[in-house]
Amino acid sequence: MNVLGLIFSIGAVTFSCAIPTILKDKCKHPTKVEHAELDWSKGDWNKQAYSQGVLAYYICRPGYMRLGTIRKICSEGEWVRISNGSCKRKRCNNPGEIDFGTFELINEEDFLFGAIVEYSCQPGYQMISKHKRIECTVFGWSKEPPECEARLCPPVVDDSVRILSTVLDEEYTHGQVINLQCKNPNDKLNGPSQIYCTTNGTWNIEPPTCKDYSEEGGMAVKQSHGDKLIPITVELPQVEQKEQKLTETKCAPPPLILFAELIGERKWMYDSGSVIQYQCLMYYKVKGNQQIKCQDGVWDLPPTCLRPCVLNYYYMKGNNTTVENGRSKFLEHDEVVHFKCLPTFEISKPGQLNAKCLDGTLQYPKCVKIKQKRTEKKCSPPPFILFGELMGEKKWMYDSGSVIQYQCLMYYKLKGNQQIKCQDGVWDLPPTCLRPCVFNYNYMKGNNTTVENVRSKFVEHDDAVHFKCLPTFEISKPGQLNAKCLDGTLQYPKCVKIRPCVLNYDYMKGNNTTVENGRSMYLEHGEFVHFKCLNTFETSKPKQLNAKCLDGTLKYPKCVKMPDEVTAQPSVGTETTVY
Ligand SMILES: *[C@@H]1O[C@H](CO)[C@@H](O)[C@H](O)[C@H]1NC(C)=O
Ligand SMILES: *[C@@H]1O[C@H](CO)[C@@H](O)[C@H](O)[C@H]1NC(C)=O
Ligand SMILES: *[C@@H]1O[C@H](CO)[C@@H](O)[C@H](O)[C@H]1NC(C)=O
Ligand SMILES: *[C@@H]1O[C@H](CO)[C@@H](O)[C@H](O)[C@H]1NC(C)=O
Ligand SMILES: *[C@@H]1O[C@H](CO)[C@@H](O)[C@H](O)[C@H]1NC(C)=O
Ligand SMILES: *[C@@H]1O[C@H](CO)[C@@H](O)[C@H](O)[C@H]1NC(C)=O
Ligand SMILES: *[C@@H]1O[C@H](CO)[C@@H](O)[C@H](O)[C@H]1NC(C)=O
Ligand SMILES: *[C@@H]1O[C@H](CO)[C@@H](O)[C@H](O)[C@H]1NC(C)=O
Repeated sequence: MNVLGLIFSIGAVTFSCAIPTILKDKCKHPTKVEHAELDWSKGDWNKQAYSQGVLAYYICRPGYMRLGTIRKICSEGEWVRISNGSCKRKRCNNPGEIDFGTFELINEEDFLFGAIVEYSCQPGYQMISKHKRIECTVFGWSKEPPECEARLCPPVVDDSVRILSTVLDEEYTHGQVINLQCKNPNDKLNGPSQIYCTTNGTWNIEPPTCKDYSEEGGMAVKQSHGDKLIPITVELPQVEQKEQKLTETKCAPPPLILFAELIGERKWMYDSGSVIQYQCLMYYKVKGNQQIKCQDGVWDLPPTCLRPCVLNYYYMKGNNTTVENGRSKFLEHDEVVHFKCLPTFEISKPGQLNAKCLDGTLQYPKCVKIKQKRTEKKCSPPPFILFGELMGEKKWMYDSGSVIQYQCLMYYKLKGNQQIKCQDGVWDLPPTCLRPCVFNYNYMKGNNTTVENVRSKFVEHDDAVHFKCLPTFEISKPGQLNAKCLDGTLQYPKCVKIRPCVLNYDYMKGNNTTVENGRSMYLEHGEFVHFKCLNTFETSKPKQLNAKCLDGTLKYPKCVKMPDEVTAQPSVGTETTVY
């Protein structure tokens, strides 16, 4: 609840009123609200001071959105929140995975306003967009995510060569192999008949061309060199002559393997016993023997190149894990990456934190929130109390041992413990808030009283109030002027006039009485007057001769003539009251 709530509660319980105007303190410039600014369309915030009851409205800064209203009220010289709205950072949607690439959040944990996502492409792919970063702005992502496309090897353009390939279009992506043949059956290739496209988008070797056999001592070779074809003449290699005879013992060019390059120059023919060496592309891991040997025309089994893994930071975040800072995002096959659970998380299945990259596949571990170790039951939200509120934020669930604190609304007095504890699913008894009393000026006036030194219209429970009689009035029952507020109830005292008595000489004469000579005819309230029987008159009730003035009323005694006859009885008159 808030100040307004208080006003409404008091209104409902005791009286109807507007904002308590008796609180006279002014407020300074409205206090700050996180990520918000004052709404200038709703007020002038350049003033020196603001009166009690003024409302300040707030709007959110760019990049933030408002959840609920944000208002403060000037109350007793301070700005008090009267609504629970707040400014939350705008978020963008998950920008999504892209083909042949991955992304990572650079500066934030989530896709919040200002977050930057950086994309990267897998090996063998390149970014075709100019930007690799996108930013979450007020209007969503600053740009479309970039695209990764395969690095393409250039088409083989030599006219003398026929290309045998499973790829229909002339787009050669990394790992693709093409076979080459000379169009003219009399020609021979000046290089291997198989070439493949590397991750860099280049052929593993310069594509071979065809040469004419008919020429003697040398051959004309058309070698592609960029887009120009330059005819050159080269010496025929020595092996060429021996080929016919020793063909059984020699090896053909070694097999091509995906993601690998041959170290050194590739030849057309290898002698038995020749050793060649493969090298896997960067991040690719060799399996088998890197070196193979030509033995009687047959090559040893070649190695294979196993694919690397690329760490996906978004998956890690989603699975509540992370890796050590500064770690490369590439893992070679068989390489182990040590994941860590984010703080307050623990691994769901023990032993899974160490994961191994297996030919491009990585199993990401999952971490879950650390479970409550205690056996004690949790508590549901704490009880609601009348005229009070919980300090701090209310939660759905409280661990056993949690302590929460209440506070009573302004002018309400707390009775009991301000703090209560959740113990094994049960809350301690909450405090109560005792109601204040509100002065009723009509009652006071009607009872001819007023109150001393009042600064507020409210008196808290248990506080003393000192009443006064209005001038010329007096308390009807002594001791009642000091009262105490008890949970909203206040006993009002009553004051009455002092009315004087005026001696009525006619009454005195008629009742055969008199007073002493020279006596004032006025008596104050409570004052006594002594009557006397006139000569030869007597009264049967001598006590009545002393009379008291009570609130303007005086009882007159009666005296009668004593009869001569002894048997005669004195008459007893009735008493009359007069102002
Ligand atoms: C503000 O409080 C009210 C009542 O407690 C609740 O219904 C509402 O959802 C709250 N709004 C926000 C934005 O927290
Ligand atoms: C291809 O890439 C590898 C590794 O990134 C590099 O060593 C090599 O020089 C590159 N070759 C070309 C032709 O760019
Ligand atoms: C957790 O990791 C797995 C891969 O192991 C992934 O498929 C999944 O999307 C991740 N979870 C989240 C929430 O990102
Ligand atoms: C990560 O933690 C959050 C919060 O505890 C949980 O909702 C989510 O299910 C966890 N992710 C996985 C993959 O368990
Ligand atoms: C005097 O006070 C009492 C409460 O103590 C109230 O009930 C009564 O109405 C008051 N008298 C007048 C005339 O207002
Ligand atoms: C207050 O004083 C007036 C005037 O003397 C009187 O009429 C009235 O009865 C007094 N009120 C009470 C509650 O005695
Ligand atoms: C005697 O006094 C009473 C008042 O006590 C008065 O009412 C009465 O009139 C008096 N008698 C005469 C005869 O004056
Ligand atoms: C006063 O005395 C006279 C004369 O004796 C008598 O008549 C009268 O009744 C007396 N007054 C009263 C009120 O008794």
